[in-house]
Amino acid sequence: ISLDCGGADDYTDGIGIQWTSDAKLVFGGQATNLPVQNQLQKQYSTLRYFPADTSKYCYTMNVRTRTRYLVRASFLYGNFDNSNVYPKFDLSLGATPWSTVIIDDADTPVVEEAIILAAAPTLSVCLSNASTGQPFISTLELRQFNGSLYYTDYEAQFFLALSARINFGADGNKSVRYPDDPFDRIWESDSLRRANYLVDVAPGTERITTTKPVFVGTELEPPEKVMQTAVVGQNGSLNYRLDLEGFPGNAWAVSYFAEIEDLAPDETRKFKLVVPGMPLFSKPTVDVEENAQGKYRLYQPGYTNVTLPFVFSFEFKKTNDSSKGPILNAMEIYKHVQITMGSQDANTMSSLASRYPQAGWAQEGGDPCLPVSWTWVQCSSEAAPRVLSITMSEKNITGSIPEELTKLSALVELRLDGNSFSGGIPDFSGCRNLQYIHLENNQLNGALPSSLGELPNLKELYIQNNRLSGHIPRALSKKSIIFNSSGNNLQGPSDSISHGTIIIIVCAVVGAILLLAVAIGCCLCTHKRKKKPSRETVVLAAPAKKLGSYFSEVATETAHRFALSEIEDATDKFERRIGSGGFGIVYYGKLADGREIAVKLLTNDSYQGIREFLNEVALLSRIHHRNLVTFLGYSQQDGKNILVYEFMHNGTLKEHLRGGPNDVKITSWVKRLEIAEDAAKGLSQFPSYSSTSMQSEDSESLFFCLEHCKYQV
Ligand SMILES: *[C@@H]1O[C@H](CO)[C@@H](O)[C@H](O)[C@H]1NC(C)=O
Ligand SMILES: *[C@@H]1O[C@H](CO)[C@@H](O)[C@H](O)[C@H]1NC(C)=O
Repeated sequence: ISLDCGGADDYTDGIGIQWTSDAKLVFGGQATNLPVQNQLQKQYSTLRYFPADTSKYCYTMNVRTRTRYLVRASFLYGNFDNSNVYPKFDLSLGATPWSTVIIDDADTPVVEEAIILAAAPTLSVCLSNASTGQPFISTLELRQFNGSLYYTDYEAQFFLALSARINFGADGNKSVRYPDDPFDRIWESDSLRRANYLVDVAPGTERITTTKPVFVGTELEPPEKVMQTAVVGQNGSLNYRLDLEGFPGNAWAVSYFAEIEDLAPDETRKFKLVVPGMPLFSKPTVDVEENAQGKYRLYQPGYTNVTLPFVFSFEFKKTNDSSKGPILNAMEIYKHVQITMGSQDANTMSSLASRYPQAGWAQEGGDPCLPVSWTWVQCSSEAAPRVLSITMSEKNITGSIPEELTKLSALVELRLDGNSFSGGIPDFSGCRNLQYIHLENNQLNGALPSSLGELPNLKELYIQNNRLSGHIPRALSKKSIIFNSSGNNLQGPSDSISHGTIIIIVCAVVGAILLLAVAIGCCLCTHKRKKKPSRETVVLAAPAKKLGSYFSEVATETAHRFALSEIEDATDKFERRIGSGGFGIVYYGKLADGREIAVKLLTNDSYQGIREFLNEVALLSRIHHRNLVTFLGYSQQDGKNILVYEFMHNGTLKEHLRGGPNDVKITSWVKRLEIAEDAAKGLSQFPSYSSTSMQSEDSESLFFCLEHCKYQV
């Protein structure tokens, strides 16, 4: 694969390499031409650049597993953005940080090369983390090796990042590459001048070359053309100093020798490697002809794992019994780069993303978590990260909920809302950490799986506005969670009577007026009769739960929380009782700032616990209407559940109808109609919802209004 990044067409260059446009292999980025055409190859006249944001931008290429590849990326800045800001950004190979690309010259390409054993059927090269300028890339190449070339014992855990590949004694500045090297390695000429690279050359260093064939073995390491040139130290030594990119580190370092001079029978060439401060190197003596078993044959001693410094000086020094100075044909130095394990969920995630080949968001490529995560994914920060959160909201997705999601066992949050997902809700029981599930506003159908009720950490479940039907699993209805299931065809658990936790009350204005009128009529007729306390308690408690679950999206945090001491001060330790309802007893209070309040101290048996209470708080803090009493906050301390309202000087509606402390008597039917109308307006604040069982719902919301609607004179 030879990608001309930003290039528009496919072509074959002067040395026979077929270049193709990168457009199909990358998501995002902008192709551009360099403003000034350079003298380099055509592939350097274009590039692709990416936003300098927190995303990563990946090229994903198909490879053959358990095969070694050379991966080469090059970067020629060429002032493409006319800003003369030299970019600096990170390059990664899959999940593994490969290198930081630092541009310090607009006209010289930076080239990064690595040799890696492909462990998966794709290999991705990603750009991210721009610290200056915008990330960009000029070319990306992939070359497949044969046989055991570049095999190392560590290749499953480490890849090799190239630091130096030098063709000594080269003919001119030109590199040797394809077709001389069938694998298209680039053997740089030792006469190419670079800062701090191959300096401190010993006097008496001469270049030699031969046209005779050199036997380089069956694996072409390195190619013959490279071995046909060399340097020799006529004064007895060859000296070099070079900076090794990415070092200090552990290196794979090999030197390549072949005797390419016709020595007289009595002449010998023996030498040792001398590295200052590293006596280890000095031990073996090289006798090229003997070691290679003949002239014009390759001998390649080296170290598969040796620690090298950043500034590397070395010397080949002839031994005392040698008549000729040392020879050096070529050399390669790579750094062992530890392969980052990557996310444990990488395969699942790539399978998930591959379901949406047309969607840009699914084409980000590389590891879902490393070195930076996909834009719609959040991961844990451990060494092999897990996917914690998926946000696929409003992405126009159709079809069923992908089963891959059920395999993300560390998942905490799942957002699939606002798509067109259809079919059933799959079994998420393998995702035991799930806390937040958003499936609302889709076209899901079928029953709610009971497994949802068994998720031990579930906190919030949103399934509203789907086509779900059947009974709500009992385990789910019993959980203390925020649960919104409106806009479906669901019924309460089949085996319980009054826990229609999720069914939402309805309040059509007209219906409410009529029912309220009837209710008022009934109240007026019956208020002198003994009430049936058990019935009222049940009914009054119910709406809070139903409304509460609808509004439970509103965090209780939005409501003010009073300290119990504050309430005790305001009410003079619950001194003045001003009423009682199904929920509890209401006391008069006055806050420190002078505001008059009604404090409802809830009787514990009318509530089933914290959840209902907090649902009520969430509901009341959400509704604001002139016809409803203003909810000021709550207090929950020392086992006391307290709701705080503004004090209604005129009393509650119920008090008006029944006769309260103010002993208001309403006799006029016009007045009653007005009340009914106002009550209906108050009730119309509650979202309407078409229910099949309107009757019971409405009577409950009426009772709610009797408690919470204001009577305004
Ligand atoms: C190389 O040697 C060092 C030090 O002995 C060791 O830590 C490292 O794991 C070895 N392997 C590689 C591939 O670096
Ligand atoms: C959503 O997907 C449909 C095809 O499934 C496509 O026709 C439509 O244009 C998409 N809408 C958006 C806003 O992407």
